[in-house]
Amino acid sequence: MTAAREIPDILSAEFAENPYPAYRLMLADSPLIWHEPMQSYIVSRYDDVARAFKEPVFTTDNYSWQLEPVHGKTILQLSGREHAVRRALVAPAFRGHELQQKFQPVIERNAAELIDGFRERGTADLVGDFARHFPINVIVDMLGLDRTDQARFQRWYTAIIAFLGNLNQDPQVTEEGLRTRAELADYMLPIIRERRGNLGDDLLSTLCAAEVDGMQMSDEDIKAFVSLLLAAGGETTDKAIASIFKNLLEHPEQLRAVREDRGLIPRAFAETLRYSPPVHMIMRQPAEDVELAGGTIPAGSTVTCLIGAANRDPSRFADPDTFDIFREDLPTDTAFSAAAQHVSFALGRHFCVGALLAKTEVEVGVNQLLDAMPDLEFADGPAPVEQGVFTRGPAALRVRFSPAPAARTSA
Ligand code: HEM
Repeated sequence: MTAAREIPDILSAEFAENPYPAYRLMLADSPLIWHEPMQSYIVSRYDDVARAFKEPVFTTDNYSWQLEPVHGKTILQLSGREHAVRRALVAPAFRGHELQQKFQPVIERNAAELIDGFRERGTADLVGDFARHFPINVIVDMLGLDRTDQARFQRWYTAIIAFLGNLNQDPQVTEEGLRTRAELADYMLPIIRERRGNLGDDLLSTLCAAEVDGMQMSDEDIKAFVSLLLAAGGETTDKAIASIFKNLLEHPEQLRAVREDRGLIPRAFAETLRYSPPVHMIMRQPAEDVELAGGTIPAGSTVTCLIGAANRDPSRFADPDTFDIFREDLPTDTAFSAAAQHVSFALGRHFCVGALLAKTEVEVGVNQLLDAMPDLEFADGPAPVEQGVFTRGPAALRVRFSPAPAARTSA
């Protein structure tokens, strides 16, 4: 095992500015690092990260301190049969008929409304004007909650994400996260109780009514799940949409190809997930001593799995530091399932339950944005900087365009 010397520290400003050189060094010579300040092992190679996601010995008990204080106990923390039942309760709402028939129109409406805000302007910040709001607005709308409360949800979600990414244990961030838990509970619990007696066609009603093997979710379970959805489905899709545009704008010939053939959007999304994943690291906690990455990881310790590094492991992807939507080692047909080649939705039993929802949001959002901005370019010259260590994406994405004469509806 190698000490973390010479490799920029994961908590350093240098790493935050650009983690990829550090990932390259880890992949080459230091596949297992003990990080004293984080009290965590760090693994980076594709096979090690994939194993940690797939093998049940790597539990998700770490979420008891990472997320439970702010959400309550969620599906992410559960294992075995308990997890399988919970997953079966929530998963149908995020795929197939429910997604296509019920939620696609909600997604299209929310995209169009946000774009209406800058359609005529000729300039936009695709993060501040669109990506930051779109997935949260969609979730609030899917749940059948009051759309005038979107700003409140936005604030809660910002606090939850800051709590999750609080690698330095800033006490103010912790306090804000705990306050959010109380505020969200006060808001959601009366709504859940009311909805149970008055079921509708929305996601909250579906969650209230869902039953598997005679089991249902309690009010507290549903509140915790809603809280998780804000973070899991908001921040991630926000970063994904901003990054797909950043990557395409940096590669104009690929942007042109996507504009001309919208069927390439899923490819561009899959490659964006690989090349610039919204979530750069996920933790696990082995239940027993386990051999990984050439060392022994003791039971109960924390392992940080570097998604951003694994996705650029040269033993897995040819020319991994190149953004190429046409690459042959990233099949699109599996990219949004647990058989994916990239690890940006994790793999195994906790594989992102919202992957197909995210894909639909990205397809609708990118389609409508391309229609509204026929000659899109960066407004400030060179590509915008990325921000974040735990989750990562462009902080802002200012673009310039000639307003389209009339909005087409998306495919
Ligand atoms: C590009 C967008 C997204 C990315 C990159 C992403 C990433 C992830 C990752 C890495 C995990 C696994 C966490 C772990 O194993 O510890 C996960 C799980 C999860 N995601 Fe997503 N996600 C995205 C969109 C969404 C959306 C739109 C939703 C729903 C609204 C969602 C809901 C969930 C839930 C509920 C889980 C927990 C699943 C379980 O524990 O069985 N995600 N996601």
